[in-house]
Amino acid sequence: MTSIGMTEQKSYSGRANLADIHTPLVYNQWYVAGLAEEFTRELRERFILERSIVMYRKQDGTPVALQNRCAHRSYPLHKSKLEGDEIRCGYHGIKYSTTGEIIEVPSQEMCPKVKIKNYALVEIGPFVWIWMGEAEAANEDLLPELRIHDDPAWTVVVGEHNHVDGNYLLMQENLCDLSHLPYLHEKTFATRKEYAEVPLQVAREGDTVDYHRHTKNQWDLVKFIYPPFIDYSDQDFEHRSGGTFLSPGMLMGYGKLTPSNGNAQLHHHVNHYLTPEHQDSCHYFWYVARNYALDNEEFDDRFRGFITTGFEEDKTATRLMQEMLTKDRHVFREMNVAGDKAGTLMRMVVKKLADAETQEMTLECLDTAKQHQQ
Ligand code: FES
Ligand SMILES: [Fe+2]
Repeated sequence: MTSIGMTEQKSYSGRANLADIHTPLVYNQWYVAGLAEEFTRELRERFILERSIVMYRKQDGTPVALQNRCAHRSYPLHKSKLEGDEIRCGYHGIKYSTTGEIIEVPSQEMCPKVKIKNYALVEIGPFVWIWMGEAEAANEDLLPELRIHDDPAWTVVVGEHNHVDGNYLLMQENLCDLSHLPYLHEKTFATRKEYAEVPLQVAREGDTVDYHRHTKNQWDLVKFIYPPFIDYSDQDFEHRSGGTFLSPGMLMGYGKLTPSNGNAQLHHHVNHYLTPEHQDSCHYFWYVARNYALDNEEFDDRFRGFITTGFEEDKTATRLMQEMLTKDRHVFREMNVAGDKAGTLMRMVVKKLADAETQEMTLECLDTAKQHQQ
């Protein structure tokens, strides 16, 4: 794990139980490695949690992810060649199986029993997920994704791959905080300030955190979420919107409009997927799923357009905060306000997960040292 030997920099939160941009990345988790369409017969490199990974697809369509580093002289395998399903290193021609074993060495008969790391992958709908811990420990039951992509009751609009110049927790905290909508997204989302003033209900359950605002019959406050052809201004309804932090790699946003007359509920998800690239940058994927206006392509385009613009604003804010946090030398301790509750709980969960991994690694190192002494 890269967390070993890393010196954790001084926290600016003033609280030892809160993760921040210096907290070691969490490996024993599922993250989105890429869009399904990014896994092709071309070798592609992506840094994920500070590891260079080569991704591609086998001839039968199965996605593959391997350590992108030849065990011989560290030549990048994505600059090499696919021979059938296997990679032949572009430097001295060592060939690797799809699970990372050396299966041919041109200059000798014997193949060293050296293996490059292979990663467990799961393809669901528009994404391929990667388990960044040991492949044997990958447990698909822990994968937080919703399984709605093939369900005809839903329409899904998928965003492009985004690169963010900032630590993933800055984005996660942004997503836990609906109070920034009328300010950072003043023009894009046309949110009323009164919306941010509706009390936020926040609850942590295990390693997940849910937050939402609940309103009744206040169409003016929530109409910015819906297309212009939907109008509940003269109807009774309840509205719940918010999100659930499900893992360091995923936050599921949602909105539910429940009409009092028993008509069908309008339900949507705005799901966010954050995959650390390095300590100071991340990949960002998203999709929006809705159970209404299913075949309305104009709405798809409108949704895609305004969400993309909004997320550009979040990306810019994240980059600016990352720069300030790392370059400004004022004595600084961040302060908290009422709207930070969900983000603070999320950061507590991540710190707990990161500490548990560091602890586990320390114990593993001690065991290895003991074995060497025997
Ligand atoms: S560096 Fe790959 S075979 Fe030598
Ligand atoms: Fe935002």
